[in-house]
Amino acid sequence: MSRLDLFIDRMVSQRACLDYAIAETALITGPVYELGLGNGRTYHHMRERIKGRDIYVFERAIASHPDSTPPESLTILGDVHDTLPATLERFGPVASLIHADLGGHNRAKNDIFAREISPLVEPLLAEGGLMVSSDRMYFENLTELPLPTGAVEGRCFVYRR
Ligand SMILES: C[S@@+](CC[C@H](N)C(=O)[O-])C[C@H]1O[C@@H](n2cnc3c(N)ncnc32)[C@H](O)[C@@H]1O
Repeated sequence: MSRLDLFIDRMVSQRACLDYAIAETALITGPVYELGLGNGRTYHHMRERIKGRDIYVFERAIASHPDSTPPESLTILGDVHDTLPATLERFGPVASLIHADLGGHNRAKNDIFAREISPLVEPLLAEGGLMVSSDRMYFENLTELPLPTGAVEGRCFVYRR
């Protein structure tokens, strides 16, 4: 598989999993958390499709497309190792949907990172809330769900509390 193939699979899977998770959590009123803004493509997609829920963005340095930059009031700046526990203290377990796309090109590093942040992500979700991730996560009490139509195995993961 070429890098282009892998990239396309990741993008198609992100969209399929996000659309599925947005619909599945539509009746949960809690906020949505976007972990890793990057260029802001997935943030923009969620902003277009999610109505009536705040979308908080977690990022250590904002460098997004101007159309895809969140308002300051919904931006949580800093390293997620610090900002996720601080957000749990601030809001409690209220998130209806958490999307994480924090990884880079090194798969082994991404896996170590996913192991580190899994216990920080897990307590943030509300009952029935969903987590969508580009990397396999290591949760104690969340259930991994089958991927929706259109998503490619291994390119995206969906979990439910
Ligand atoms: C792959 S990009 C996200 C791309 C985004 N989903 C999009 O569609 O444009 C990953 C982002 O995660 C951020 N990031 C990585 N590790 C982080 C950390 N420990 N704390 C906060 N942000 C982090 C990086 O700064 C980068 O902007």
